[in-house]
Amino acid sequence: MARKTLITARDLERRPALPLPADALLTPLARDLLRKRGLWPPPVRAGGRGCGAPRLVVANWKSHKTIPEALAFARGLREELASRRPRAGAVVCPPATALANLRGPLRGVAELGAQDVSAHDEGAHTGELAARHLVDAGARYVLVGHSERRAAGEDDARCRAKVRAALRGGLTPILCVGETAGERDAGRTEHVVAGQLEAVFAGLDLARATRVVLAYEPRWAIGTGRVPQGEDVAAVLAHARAVLARAFPPDAVERVPVLYGGSVNERNAARLLALPGCSGALVGGASLDPARFAQILASA
Ligand code: PGA
Repeated sequence: MARKTLITARDLERRPALPLPADALLTPLARDLLRKRGLWPPPVRAGGRGCGAPRLVVANWKSHKTIPEALAFARGLREELASRRPRAGAVVCPPATALANLRGPLRGVAELGAQDVSAHDEGAHTGELAARHLVDAGARYVLVGHSERRAAGEDDARCRAKVRAALRGGLTPILCVGETAGERDAGRTEHVVAGQLEAVFAGLDLARATRVVLAYEPRWAIGTGRVPQGEDVAAVLAHARAVLARAFPPDAVERVPVLYGGSVNERNAARLLALPGCSGALVGGASLDPARFAQILASA
């Protein structure tokens, strides 16, 4: 019989983010500890490129780029990708004003995504863009619950309503979850992420739930140049799938893409994208330059 790696409760206490090796043999106490942390039973093959989810690299331009600047990016990205065929799909989320203009120039190179969506399908909601407007302008994806929107007052209930509105309107929501530095320091990361996921996924049927893309973005890593330890990222990605696997069949959960976001750049992308369970990246600052974004795509 093949030798197994024995993992005790002591191992897990000493290294709380220890990613479980594929051949792990857990003692009963270790299993109890994982159960308490919501990590047992484990998601099916939580790790690796073989986890069945499509790979995606998503550019979030935030409030950057005018239409001419967006078009220059599209020309640049097309040139960068002329000689290489990345394994991951690319999604570009520009300011909404540039969506329609980018539709043609990015065709065959990247899909389009919006950065926010109204929770309403239409009506008297001055200033809000509904899913149907975004689809009309060429978007196929939309970010929901980005930390910068959460910081502006968007709570879990609003994220839940927006995810549903996106799905109703034919968009693929990219739901962002993640802890603050204070929550991380208090050891609450898994609790916070589970709460954010449960608030949105409760009551969703399987068909809709498996159309959502997840992005784990520790809030303290966004725009700071600080990136968590690889094993900590892998543990949270596995945890996110384990939370979903409480409500949905594990083989379906395996096909839900879970991205990492927060200070991803062309130098750290290969390492982050190779982490167990990582289906791709959500990239802010480094996605503004076509050469850098293409390099990140090439690492996926
Ligand atoms: P960053 O932003 O890559 O600049 O850290 C990521 C994000 O906000 O999604």
